[in-house]
Formats: sequence, structure tokens, C-alpha cells
Amino acid sequence: MQRGSELELPYLTMESDAFAADPLPHFARARAEHPWLARWILGYVVTDYKAMRDLYAREGEMGQLYDQIVEIMDAKNTRWGDFQERHMLNQMGPAHKRYRDMLQSSFTPRRMNELRPLMRETMSELLDEWLPRGAFDFEEFASYYPISVMCRMIGASPSVVPGLRSAMEAIGLSTSMDKRWLPAMQEGVERMERFVVDLVAERRAAPHEGREELLDLLLAIRDRGELTDLELHELLIFLFVAGYDTSKNMTTLVMNLLIPRPAMYERVGRDPDYAKRVLDEALRYHSTTSTQRVLLTDMEYRGVVLEKGSIVWFPMSVAVHDERYVSDADGFDPDRKAETAHIAFGLGPHICLGQYLARALIQEGLQLIARRMRNPRTTGPQGWRPFPGAWGIRGLPVAFEMGEA
Ligand code: HEM
Repeated sequence: MQRGSELELPYLTMESDAFAADPLPHFARARAEHPWLARWILGYVVTDYKAMRDLYAREGEMGQLYDQIVEIMDAKNTRWGDFQERHMLNQMGPAHKRYRDMLQSSFTPRRMNELRPLMRETMSELLDEWLPRGAFDFEEFASYYPISVMCRMIGASPSVVPGLRSAMEAIGLSTSMDKRWLPAMQEGVERMERFVVDLVAERRAAPHEGREELLDLLLAIRDRGELTDLELHELLIFLFVAGYDTSKNMTTLVMNLLIPRPAMYERVGRDPDYAKRVLDEALRYHSTTSTQRVLLTDMEYRGVVLEKGSIVWFPMSVAVHDERYVSDADGFDPDRKAETAHIAFGLGPHICLGQYLARALIQEGLQLIARRMRNPRTTGPQGWRPFPGAWGIRGLPVAFEMGEA
């Protein structure tokens, strides 16, 4: 039995800009040196799909990391720090199940399918507003879509969208571990809190009789005394935060894959089933979120002991981009037979609550984009967001012609 700390492991510079710009060859090289484990500045990295699944099956031996992130950021007892420590992703066991039970019925595939017309309406209005420009930053454009859909889902006025967008851009820096961003992150949480407090007060003053929107359900739970006001507010903030940069980044990543593949792009616009397969293949090819956990006990796996207290990173966003699990891993082929299911939405009790929302949202959005934004091409340089956390493209300038409305 070997201790992880004594092993010669490949080192991944996951925090660097160069890594973020092209992470896949780094993982391939690491796997050539060690079949499933690597190291980076903040702990171990599991580089093998099956190892990720095996370790996640033992999730009871792992804990969440947000308390530590708050400590590293010197942000204990701040508004941002309290929010990070209390949100549902940082809860385990019954404290976490309580939130899942409250929310599950609002995020089923059926509920999300019912919202498809609302998604199409939202995207159509955005395209009406943005397309006459002839060129824009696609990432910025895409950022308005998930927020606008979520606002409509909970009955918030569209006028709040720009303010929420900048608050969520700031909160999205939470896993950056960079203290320079702390004031912006604090301000982001405070701004989101003002928004949800006003929203709840407005709905209380003018209830939606007989409606079963997410906010109405949560208010009913509050009225039964099963949630405090603070928990209700923070839950709403967390749902926005969890859905914002994940969906925005994924939509932009798919667009970036489609721009150099015009035949696929064109087909997405006219074939909903194909659009669905394109999204699934994109989630396999690369997606946005890596997860991380801290070990609550020494954990033995494949003859290696990973030490209690270690932080372990799971780059689920690229887990099936690996020839050992899928043939032609570098090829982007929406018609491929699914050999290995991707895990872009995570695993275990914390598996993405919003995955059916994200799927429907992105698929519906892309179909309309492909129909109305013709012949897109990129017109300038693009950057990348840090790989750990919510990875994605920073800025995707595009030019195009306008298609049918
Ligand atoms: C393509 C888009 C998305 C991706 C790739 C994604 C990915 C993930 C992943 C990997 C996790 C697990 C995190 C962990 O275990 O540490 C997660 C959790 C979560 N996601 Fe998503 N997500 C997406 C969109 C959304 C949307 C639109 C929502 C809407 C509200 C959402 C809400 C959540 C919530 C609430 C959790 C925490 C679940 C829990 O703690 O039980 N996500 N997501």
C-alpha cells in the first residue's frame, strides 16, 4: 500500500491561463504518467472516469469544501462567507436532503418540458433585440438567457436582469481563491439579497392564487414553518448562482464547437432531435464544472491511500474525453453511439438539480440561434475562464447574417 503523498505524481497547473485555454492534452499526458491520479497546488486530481465514479460511490467518506474556501479567503462571518457556508451544495446528509426534497418536484423533466415555450419566447425576444447589431460578443449575449428564463420562472420583472447579471458575474469568482475579488463577491451577494427580499415582499403583497411556480411553492413551505426567511432568500440566490454561469458557459462552448462545423450548425436549427444529440456530445466533449471534496478519513483506492484532510478534485467536465472510454475522443460526433455516459452534471446526492432545466434551456436556445443567426464566424480573440470551478470561454466575438424570424 502506498501513501498518495509519497507517490511521484504528474503535476497539473490547473490554475494557469495556458491550462484553461487547452486542458485536454494536459489530462492525456497526466494519464500517460499515472492511470488515475495527479496533483495540483490545492490537492489531488482524479484523472480517470472510472475512478471518479468509484470514489463518488463512497461519497459518505468525503465532505464539502466551502468552509475551507471561506477560511482561505479570510472571509469568515462576512455576507459572502456565510452564504458559501450555508448553501445547499455545502450541506451533507439530512441537512442537504431537506433542500433536495423541497425542490425536486419543481425540477423534473416534465416540469422543464412545460417551460419550453417560455424558453423559446425568451430566446426569441433576446434575438430580436441583439441580432440587428450584426456582430456581438456571444458570451455576453448568452449570459442574458438563463437569467431571463429564471426570472420568468419565478415571476420577477425583466428590468432586474442586468443588475442580477453583474452580481452573478461577481459571485462566479467564488472558487477563484483570489482575495482581490472578495469585495466584488460581497457586493454580489448583497445585491442578490436585496433582489430576493424585494421579490418575496412583492409576491406576498400580490400572491399568484392557484399557481404552482417555484416561488409560490417555496413560500408555502415557508408558511408551514419548514424554512426560515433567511433560508428562503439564500436558496433563491443559490438557484440563480448555480444556474447562471454553468448554462451561459455551456451554451457558449457549444456555439464555439458549432461555428467551425456549419453543416451541423444548420441542422441544429431544423432538427430538434439532432440539437439534443449535439448538446449531449458537447457535454461529453467538454463541459463546464469540476467538483471538489475533502476527505473525512484516509481513503484507500487501487492500492493508494489518499490521506484524511486532503482535497480531491474531480474534473467531470472532461471525464469522458478519454480514449480508454470512448473511441475517437477528440472527434466531435453527435451521431456516435454512447459508449460511456458523461458525468457533466456530477454524481451522487449532489447531482445537478437543474440538469433538465439546463438541457431544455440550452437545446431550445441553440435551435433558435441556429435558425436566426446565419453563417456565424468568430471575429476576434477569445479568452478562457479558470479551469477549476465553472470553466468556459471568456468572450466569443461573432459576426453573422440575420435569418428568418
Ligand atoms: C450545463 C449546465 C450545468 C452544468 C454542467 C451543471 C453541473 C453541475 C454539477 C457538476 C453539479 C454538482 C456539484 C458538486 O457535486 O459539487 C451541480 C449541482 C447543482 N446544480 Fe447544476 N449544472 C448546470 C446547470 C444548472 C442549472 C440551470 C441549475 C438551475 C437552478 C442548476 C442547479 C444546481 C444545483 C441547485 C446544484 C446543487 C445540487 C445539490 O447540492 O444537491 N445547475 N451542477
